[in-house]
Amino acid sequence: MRGIRFRLKRLLSVLTPGVLALAVGSPALAAEGTKYPQALLDPAGPQAESLAEVISWDLQVITGIFIAVSLITAYILIKFRRREGADAPEQSHGNPRFEVTAWLVLVMGLLVMMVHPLKAEGVFVKMPTDENAVDVEVIGHQWWWEIRYPKLGIVTANELHMPTGVPVRIRTTSVDVIHSFAIPRLGGKDESIPGRWTQFWLQADEPGIYQGQCMQLCGASHARMLARAVAQTPADFDAWVQSMKNPVTTPQTELAQRGEQLFGSNCAACHTVDGTAFKGKVGPNQTGFGYRTSIGGGVLENNPQNLARWIADPQSVKPGTKMPKLPLSKDAIDALVAYMEGLK
Ligand code: CUA
Repeated sequence: MRGIRFRLKRLLSVLTPGVLALAVGSPALAAEGTKYPQALLDPAGPQAESLAEVISWDLQVITGIFIAVSLITAYILIKFRRREGADAPEQSHGNPRFEVTAWLVLVMGLLVMMVHPLKAEGVFVKMPTDENAVDVEVIGHQWWWEIRYPKLGIVTANELHMPTGVPVRIRTTSVDVIHSFAIPRLGGKDESIPGRWTQFWLQADEPGIYQGQCMQLCGASHARMLARAVAQTPADFDAWVQSMKNPVTTPQTELAQRGEQLFGSNCAACHTVDGTAFKGKVGPNQTGFGYRTSIGGGVLENNPQNLARWIADPQSVKPGTKMPKLPLSKDAIDALVAYMEGLK
């Protein structure tokens, strides 16, 4: 009885993440997935390439073993099938030469399979010392990513801006539960564990948006904890860095001015905007919000309609989010949207 229960528990622990992912999945998320596919086998940088090599190498070896075993099985089934009037087959045991050969083949096979993983492990673990490399700290929160550039003095959220052609050294940790930061097309991932830092690196060869995803089941909105790498040419990246360091904080329209006041009275307890008096630490730093391509931890595209929808009822977009539903009129939300989209 205990054995059955144990097995059932094991089975559930394997099935639950998949079922949960299905349960919280939505057509919108599925659409996101196809827009920027998280395709491990379509690498867009050297780190990802070495991993794709491992996967395709393993697939080839495994396919070879599968075909060999299938052929041997088919041969044995046909050759030694039960025949009409035949005697019972003769049993044999104890064939040291065969057993030693079988073991050697097995060990050789495993060694061959280790060649590429070991190579990739070397690429993955060895932190690049390139002097142009960018250092980034990625901090997991339920359910969004804080992204800091300690040497550049920039703090942002959910979108990792990076220059193309140089490595990005990532150190990651978490403030609550274990998360896992991954941008599959750029390579590797590592666990974001509360109380410790782990490190790895990514590199993008071409400018573009690369979708990522928290890879560790971390609560109700785990499936909605996305991330994006925004790879830019070095010149575009520098321009982004400059504008993040010298953000425009004065609202440009009357509506946005009203939005600024509303931000102060409703949002500033949780959100920071660099260069202003808003210094909240609970939610994402919203400096340069107008540059973001997505909102709500990557769940919605960043446009005024979606931002209004998000502010009006965050729980309907992202169940469990700490962002509260505030009693704001439609006009107030429009003003907030105007202010936030103007933060560049
Ligand atoms: Cu964070 Cu899953």
